[in-house]
Amino acid sequence: MNNPFSLEGKTILVTGASSGIGARCAIDCATMGARVVLIARNEQRLQETLSQMGGERHIVLPLDLTNVELVVTKVKETVKQVGPIAGVINCAGVSSVTPLKLIKEEDMASMMQANVYSALFLTKEVCRMGNYDKKGTSIIFLSSIMGLVGENAKTMYSLTKGALQSAARSIAIELAPKKIRVNCIAPGAIVTPINEKLPHMADPVKRAVLEAKHPLGLGQTTDISNACIYLLSDAARWVTGQVIAVDGGYTAK
Ligand SMILES: NC(=O)c1ccc[n+]([C@@H]2O[C@H](COP(=O)([O-])OP(=O)(O)OC[C@H]3O[C@@H](n4cnc5c(N)ncnc54)[C@H](OP(=O)(O)O)[C@@H]3O)[C@@H](O)[C@H]2O)c1
Repeated sequence: MNNPFSLEGKTILVTGASSGIGARCAIDCATMGARVVLIARNEQRLQETLSQMGGERHIVLPLDLTNVELVVTKVKETVKQVGPIAGVINCAGVSSVTPLKLIKEEDMASMMQANVYSALFLTKEVCRMGNYDKKGTSIIFLSSIMGLVGENAKTMYSLTKGALQSAARSIAIELAPKKIRVNCIAPGAIVTPINEKLPHMADPVKRAVLEAKHPLGLGQTTDISNACIYLLSDAARWVTGQVIAVDGGYTAK
């Protein structure tokens, strides 16, 4: 029987594939049949992810996504090597807990660059004629529930995650005629290297408070990779410009 969630025959770029959610997405997309291009800065950790993936078809691409010129070159080289790209999971990102009074202009600029501009420029390159898969391409931005609701000391992070949601809607409309779909996933809290040392995870009392805000408890990286597989697959062929909260019910209240 034809499986509408299969990723067979699709080449998928996964950024942030050296850690946490991105690593899990790379592994699970491979299981669903995709050829995966694993992107992040740390080559050794990318290789660790690769070692957990089946098949010889995958590619490790060490790349600092804030280097726009290099992104242009690497996308070109990748398409030459593996053909058109059918999907991108823009997972690379950074976080911080910073009260408004402590925000510095340079910190805000670097967070915008890491969380927003790098994902947009990669998407721009993939969506050039000849680079994307004309049969259908799916772009996913990893936003956050912090782009939907507020939280103490999360101004900078919320700003970047909300920006991705707004951008995704307009890009979705612009690129629909090319059969390119663009969506956001807004995860709730999942323990990964991005937050394990931040106060709301590291302090057991604060962590219990955070957990209680998620009616289904904290999430796991597979909760997000499964949502990504759906959006990348042909099962989601009529879904674009959406923000899907995968958050254990955090935003339902
Ligand atoms: N965990 C959560 O609770 C949660 C909740 C909501 C949203 N999210 C979002 O989900 C995404 C993944 O988070 P995570 O929890 O998996 O975090 P993580 O484990 O810290 O992973 C972040 C990834 O981003 C990569 N990265 C950062 N800057 C980069 C750059 N300039 N160029 C290339 N790669 C870069 C890192 O790789 P290198 O260091 O090797 O470059 C790493 O692979 C993020 O966008 C995050 O905001 C996470």
